[in-house]
Amino acid sequence: MIYMVLSSVLAILASAVPMPAQNADLEAGRRVYTRRCASCHGTNGEARPATARAYGVKMRHLGAPEVQALIDEQIRKLLKEGGMKAKPIRSLSDADVRNVIAYIRTFRREQN
Ligand code: HEC
Repeated sequence: MIYMVLSSVLAILASAVPMPAQNADLEAGRRVYTRRCASCHGTNGEARPATARAYGVKMRHLGAPEVQALIDEQIRKLLKEGGMKAKPIRSLSDADVRNVIAYIRTFRREQN
């Protein structure tokens, strides 16, 4: 009995301790991307034509050199505060932002 109590106390403690999320989690980033970005930016960053039309912009591929040249801080600001024609996505946690930025780095490509 005491073990059951102890182990549930430990489980609660473990879930309450914030993870030191210094290192980005690519798998978590992929989930954020799929849920929060793909509807506009397409499954692989190619941008949905309907979104580009709706916003009246020619959206770049997220893997394009110009986009990849943005540093993490610029992308973080764009996501949190908005910029260009993009609206801020306020409900993203700091960890979500860090992970999704790491994930879109995997779209990097040489040509536009
Ligand atoms: C409702 C549609 C929408 C959603 C959802 C969305 N974006 Fe965007 N995003 C845009 C638009 C529109 C732009 C601006 C394109 C422009 O002005 O050329 C943009 C711009 C960007 C840029 C800069 C691209 C460039 O050409 O420099 C990045 C990076 C980006 N978004 C990442 C993300 C990420 C990561 C997410 C998910 C967390 C996300 N966006 C969610 C519509 C969206």
